[in-house]
Amino acid sequence: MADLKTTYMGIPLKSPVMVAASSVSSYVDRVQMAESAGAGALVIRSLFEEQISLDQWRMEEALAIGAESFAEAMSYFPRVEHGGIKEHLMWVEKTRKAVTLPIFASLNAVSPGAWTTYARQLADTGVNGLEINVYAVPADPNQPGSVIEQQLYDVIEAIRKEVSLPIAVKLSPFYTAPANVVKELEKRGVNAVVIFNRFLQPDIDPDTESLINEMVLSTPAELKVPLRWAALLYGRTGLDIAVNTGVHTGRDVIKALLAGATVVQVAATLLKNGIPYISTMLLDIQNWMEERGYNTLADFRGKLSQKNCDDPFAFERAQYVKLLSGAH
Ligand SMILES: Cc1cc2nc3c(=O)[nH]c(=O)nc-3n(C[C@H](O)[C@H](O)[C@H](O)COP(=O)(O)O)c2cc1C
Repeated sequence: MADLKTTYMGIPLKSPVMVAASSVSSYVDRVQMAESAGAGALVIRSLFEEQISLDQWRMEEALAIGAESFAEAMSYFPRVEHGGIKEHLMWVEKTRKAVTLPIFASLNAVSPGAWTTYARQLADTGVNGLEINVYAVPADPNQPGSVIEQQLYDVIEAIRKEVSLPIAVKLSPFYTAPANVVKELEKRGVNAVVIFNRFLQPDIDPDTESLINEMVLSTPAELKVPLRWAALLYGRTGLDIAVNTGVHTGRDVIKALLAGATVVQVAATLLKNGIPYISTMLLDIQNWMEERGYNTLADFRGKLSQKNCDDPFAFERAQYVKLLSGAH
């Protein structure tokens, strides 16, 4: 049998398929199901700033009063049941104890300061590492990109000082220079980047002339952006690369690994196909590896990264020009 074992942020995983932060972690039996299906690791849904500021409140109450600033964060929670930091920490601890697979806690960091306390508290639950979820929409025209990036670095530096556990940063795809951001994160002692966070985009209903804020799951077409960036980053960063968004099948995992991913993170496919589908994905990867005589993931990881592929321009602008000039 082809060997699917890998290492993520120095932690041995039995497979490269991780469960992304999602409602899968809302119930212990779902987490156990993911473990039995062969998941390599699992990220617990995030602790959001909004939850912390609402510490004593139920999220439902916030929904009821229609607090718009919370809408995006709350649409992450199909079943809203957070009560604040204490409840979240208890949940993380309980989940950690219920399974043996590596578990990561996720924190939605926006600003330095209080975040370090929460990072510390999450680290103390016994999790194997932290994932810092950078989910902010920089809409202020007076705030330059350099300031936004600096804020991220400040948060990360502060958390790094506080926590010795491995840290992954789940990045937005909207940085001007993602490769530079990754390099800056590496300088600050981060261990992995998750590329990329999937922003929930509000839609507009022309009939009612109103906004629609609903959870629409990703499609496999969305994999191409993280795929390109995994291919560009591979061999240029010492950080592990977790490909996220649009990984739906075993073939998608193979694509990500060929591009240079260390692991993938999945959510939508599990909500669509059920958590046991992880085992189908793993079997498909193993069959593909065996057909080609690959024994380990290292045998083909990064084979189609920009560094290693025959056409290094395929991931850059030149290919765009070529394709457009040939289009009719
Ligand atoms: C129901 C649901 C809940 C989610 N909750 C979180 C969360 O708490 N924190 C986070 O960083 N991402 C969260 N996400 C985003 C996923 O972790 C992931 O980044 C995104 O769904 C893209 O991966 P996918 O294409 O496999 O779905 C959530 C996604 C879904 C579908």
